[in-house]
Parts: sequence; C-alpha cells; structure tokens
Amino acid sequence: METIIAGRKQLLEVSEVTVRYGGVTAVDSVSFDVAVGSLIGLIGPNGAGKTSLIDALTGYTPIDGGSIRFDGLELGGVPAYKRSRSGLARTFQSVELFDDLTVEENLLVASEGSGISKALRDLFLPARKADRSAVDWALSACGLEALAKKHPTQISHGQRKLVGLARALARRPKMLLLDEPAAGLDTDESAELGERLRALPKDEGVTILLIDHDMGLVLSVSDQVYVLNFGRLISSGTPEHVRDDSAVIEAYLGRKELGGVD
Ligand SMILES: Nc1ncnc2c1ncn2[C@@H]1O[C@H](COP(=O)(O)OP(=O)(O)OP(=O)(O)O)[C@@H](O)[C@H]1O
Ligand SMILES: [Mg+2]
Repeated sequence: METIIAGRKQLLEVSEVTVRYGGVTAVDSVSFDVAVGSLIGLIGPNGAGKTSLIDALTGYTPIDGGSIRFDGLELGGVPAYKRSRSGLARTFQSVELFDDLTVEENLLVASEGSGISKALRDLFLPARKADRSAVDWALSACGLEALAKKHPTQISHGQRKLVGLARALARRPKMLLLDEPAAGLDTDESAELGERLRALPKDEGVTILLIDHDMGLVLSVSDQVYVLNFGRLISSGTPEHVRDDSAVIEAYLGRKELGGVD
C-alpha cells in the first residue's frame, strides 16, 4: 500500500531503523521519509552512521530493529541484489571501476542486471537495445559522452566519480543513494556535479539521497536535509533551517569540523 503525504507519494519510508556492530550502535532508531522526485541531503560528522544507514537501506548490512519500505514494499529480509533490481541503487564511498574496460563498458556491465557472465557476453556480442539506451542516457546525464571510449586510468578523479554515478544510473533506478560523490572534487567539479544532481529528480524523475562532507554542495542542492550525529537524527528541515540549527553547529563543533559548515 502506498503512503501519500501532502499529495506526494513517499518512495522510501524508514522507521526506527537501528544498526549495531557488536557493541557499537552505528544507527540508532532513525526514521525519515523521502518523497518521489525529491533530493534529500544526509549530513553528519565522521562516524555519524551515514554509510551504515545506506548499507542498511540497500541490504549490505542487516538491521537490528525497525523497518524499511521502498516503493510500497517492505524490504525486511530482501537481499541486496533484489533491492537493487527493484530500483534502489547506490554508489560507494570509494569508486571501484574496471580499469580494463572503457567507461562505456563499465556502464554496460552495470546495466545488465542478470549476472556478470551475461554482461560479459554482451560486451562481445552487440548489446541489446534496452541496455544501450540506458547506458547512453546515463552517459549523457553525467556529461560523459566524450569519454565513453576512454579507460578509467585515462581520466581525472572527478571524471571517475562521475562514471561511478553514471554506472548506478545505467540501471535506471527509481532512487539513488549517493555516498560522498563529491569527495576529492575541486570547487568547479563539485559545482558541476551539483547541477547534474539537481537535474536528475527534475528532468529524469530519479529520487536522490545525497550524503557528502561538502556542506556547500548538500545545502545548495537539497530540498530537505537530515542530520545524523552518533547514529541519531538530530535535525531535519530545509537547508536554511539546518544550517542555523544550534544542535547541528554544536555537533560539528564537537567534532572540530565546523570548517565544513559555511
Ligand atoms: N563494519 C563495521 N564494524 C564495526 N564498526 C563499524 C563498522 N562500520 C562502521 N562502524 C562504526 O559505526 C559508526 C558509524 O560509521 P559509518 O561509517 O556509518 O559513519 P559515516 O557517517 O559514514 O562516517 P564517514 O563520514 O567517516 O564516512 C562508527 O563508529 C564506525 O566506527
Ligand atoms: Mg561514510
């Protein structure tokens, strides 16, 4: 059953999710919703639990409590590959690309959902039309058309990060969870990434959850921002609200990272 709030369907509904690693509670009873077509930011100091939350949503780590609904489906017990197939895609904090494949081949492998052998076969046989169009769309959404035939070793770090993003898009997800896509990018690259991310919900209908340490990026592109500290949600609201929230400023001051808040 779908949940409709203020006329917008909730694509992701996270309710009291907890993640523990032994004695460490990385995510502590966190609840939030993401509406279809929105771009939601998730910030918090180092070790706040951001990656653990993405791991829990995508099925890379089990949850110790709570529930997750995606597109009306309860995800409890659903393995990671099935969540991905249902349209919940992610990128990883460190980009791992196949250096022996071109940019476009890296995307083709990703666009094929039925296993690596089938994907490799498609590399040697003409790719199916459906895969090809998803790959072309993802290349274009990330401005990578001119780099399609290059290998990851021949392009910049910033471009490799964009390939990581395009690879996740090549599966035509309904929702994309991005773990620090701007890490290591310079100011111009980060601004370009921001523009591309902003266009994805608006022009392409892809809902986004964006985690990044680049506070300027997150606050400038997000519709709503959630703030985690020590695994707990300590603030949420518009970028303006979160930027001025004393609980957020204190959390960052406590971790000596206020330099990131501007
Ligand atoms: N596999 C693991 N085993 C044990 N503890 C872990 C594991 N992964 C993360 N943790 C701990 O869980 C807490 C949350 O870590 P997590 O990586 O989710 O934070 P984060 O907000 O993504 O941090 P960063 O900004 O540095 O990426 C930290 O205390 C971390 O040390
Ligand atoms: Mg992390």
